[in-house]
Amino acid sequence: MTDSVQMIEILPSLLSADFARLGAHIAEVEAAGATMLHFDVMDGHFVPNLTMGTPVLQSLRKITRAHLDVHLMITNPDDFVGIFAEAGADSISVHQETCPHLDRTLRLIQTEGAQAGVVLNPSTPVATLDEVLPIVDFVLVMSVNPGFGGQKFLPNSLQKIGQLAERRARLGLGFKIEVDGGIGASNAADVVRAGAEWLVAGNSVFGASNPGDAFIALRETAQQGLQQHV
Ligand code: DX5
Ligand code: ZN
Repeated sequence: MTDSVQMIEILPSLLSADFARLGAHIAEVEAAGATMLHFDVMDGHFVPNLTMGTPVLQSLRKITRAHLDVHLMITNPDDFVGIFAEAGADSISVHQETCPHLDRTLRLIQTEGAQAGVVLNPSTPVATLDEVLPIVDFVLVMSVNPGFGGQKFLPNSLQKIGQLAERRARLGLGFKIEVDGGIGASNAADVVRAGAEWLVAGNSVFGASNPGDAFIALRETAQQGLQQHV
């Protein structure tokens, strides 16, 4: 991975925002420079929690021009890809573990006009994606077990990011590498150094007293991973 192709984005995760003040929280991080937002959808089946659906996404679409990155932690995602795309998703990711026909699902997302991503749980090996890497727009490495914000980063995620970056370089592919879970000042530079460019951050941004300042500080820390890359 060369520095020239890496453009680091911090994606504030709305799961950690105050849901009664979503619009205000989005305005704060946008004023700080955020151009992408992460939107977690949970169904209480694939993961043990419930979150937001298309009515919320539709409302947010009206108040922001930011890229809305929808992370589907749901069973049968094919049934919902169309309505999330219509509600305003710019990118949609589905879990490898929920997709027996992963190639078809990824192509469906693209047909609906969104960028297509595939997500790996911490226990799912990178090699399970070898057949679809040529068609994906991005791969999301979960660095916690999905379901909740505010969990601790699992360090073996760095190896998986590195394995993806190695495949991307070797095969001459252009997919982005996203990482989600427990990202903060202590590991943001490490995940960038390993090869990631989209860093989801929930608690470390919206758990701070000033989310805008936290966003700026985290972006600066993450960019140090680029400078340290040799
Ligand atoms: C967890 C979600 C994450 C979550 C991350 O299942 O997919 O997007 O919001 O939150 P933090 O950054 O607090 O771990
Ligand atoms: Zn997420």
